[in-house]
Amino acid sequence: MRKVVMVAGGVNKWGRRAANFRQLAAEAAKACFDSNPNIDHKEIDGFILATTYAERTGVQVHPAPFIAQIIGLQPKKLYMRVENQCGSGTTAIRTAWWAIASGYVDMVMCLGVEKLMIPVHEEIFLNAASAMDHDWEGCFGLTPPAAFAMAAQAHMRKFGTTEEQMAMVSVKNHRHAMKTPYAHHYERYKKHGPVTLETALKSRMIAYPLKLFDCSTNTDGAAACILASEEKAKELTDKPVYLIGTSQVCLHGSWQKATYEWWEWPALRLAARQAYEMAGIKPEDVDVAEIHDCFTISEIIEYEELGWCEKGQGGKFIEEGLSDYGGKVVVNPRGGLIACGHPFAATGIAQAYEIFLQLRGEAGERQVKDAKIGLNHNLSGLGEHHIIIYKRGFD
Ligand SMILES: CC(C)(COP(=O)(O)OP(=O)(O)OC[C@H]1O[C@@H](n2cnc3c(N)ncnc32)[C@H](O)[C@@H]1OP(=O)(O)O)[C@@H](O)C(=O)NCCC(=O)NCCS
Repeated sequence: MRKVVMVAGGVNKWGRRAANFRQLAAEAAKACFDSNPNIDHKEIDGFILATTYAERTGVQVHPAPFIAQIIGLQPKKLYMRVENQCGSGTTAIRTAWWAIASGYVDMVMCLGVEKLMIPVHEEIFLNAASAMDHDWEGCFGLTPPAAFAMAAQAHMRKFGTTEEQMAMVSVKNHRHAMKTPYAHHYERYKKHGPVTLETALKSRMIAYPLKLFDCSTNTDGAAACILASEEKAKELTDKPVYLIGTSQVCLHGSWQKATYEWWEWPALRLAARQAYEMAGIKPEDVDVAEIHDCFTISEIIEYEELGWCEKGQGGKFIEEGLSDYGGKVVVNPRGGLIACGHPFAATGIAQAYEIFLQLRGEAGERQVKDAKIGLNHNLSGLGEHHIIIYKRGFD
């Protein structure tokens, strides 16, 4: 298999945007091309579009060729759309990885885009419910906040995890996003200052124990990156970022099919083991991570299943500052889904772009000192997890 390298990336401004689906995609593609002027559009032989709700909110079936067209690509070997709900962006990158690794294509653009904030606001919740098992869960009101609230209750009962510890995840991630201009909530900090523990704990209840600030925010946004074979990458950059390990595990789709307690996430544990093994590293080797904080409890459980602390100690991990700058591993330096917002299919690509910046030493005020190994985790349900591990390829 050939080695695969990330050579460019970019995001647009996330938030309640007037821009339509296509405009959002075009903005991210431009940012990505601007990040590496050595790349010639014509040499991109693959294009993978990640989008979840293109039909519902972008009113566009079969979106990949139309987006390729408006961003000036004519891929001669591969073009496709992928949809794996919240994990769609990481799925796009994984798909590009094996197409390049196999020797079939040399350079692929992955672009994730989501238009969520459409005028009929309640439609968002209908969409969220449609991502659950339609016949047996979504139709009874099991939207993501309700489902993850049950995981939070189980974790609290089993390990004594507290609402304060969950709020600390929110405070950390919002603090990080104060240095991320594209984040959904960036303007809020200028008006209201940092999010405090008190603000988070007093925010309105969404699904007990998850309050507004425990939840990721629905947002419009897009992100793009370009991957290339190692040979091609040598012509394009002197700061290569290598994909060194990846895994994807699906133990079940429906939440009711979990044959375990919701405080443990065996699919993630297995995905982590596989990815670390492929990368030839241990959990403690990870310097910086972008993980799926769709809710604060998710980040806490992920610390445990990704092997950074013992099972049940995720609450203590955040309380002791071990997932922050100066701790064991800096988690969600751009502010995560909670503060940047979560435009489903764009999220995984934006996370990967943040790791790319961090490993190249280009993350500005957010820079994690001397970051060499970065991990990106996405989930698309309790039983479905996606991981990619990246390594700085220069010294
Ligand atoms: C938490 C949630 C229910 C709130 O939605 P809502 O009640 O419709 O809230 P609105 O969008 O009307 O926003 C009202 C205000 O709260 C703010 N807000 C909304 N969601 C927020 C969040 N998650 N955190 C902080 N503030 C938030 C908005 O910015 C807005 O403030 P403003 O009036 O100052 O601009 C919604 O954000 C949600 O469903 N989040 C989870 C998304 C999800 O499930 N993703 C999939 C994960 S797997």
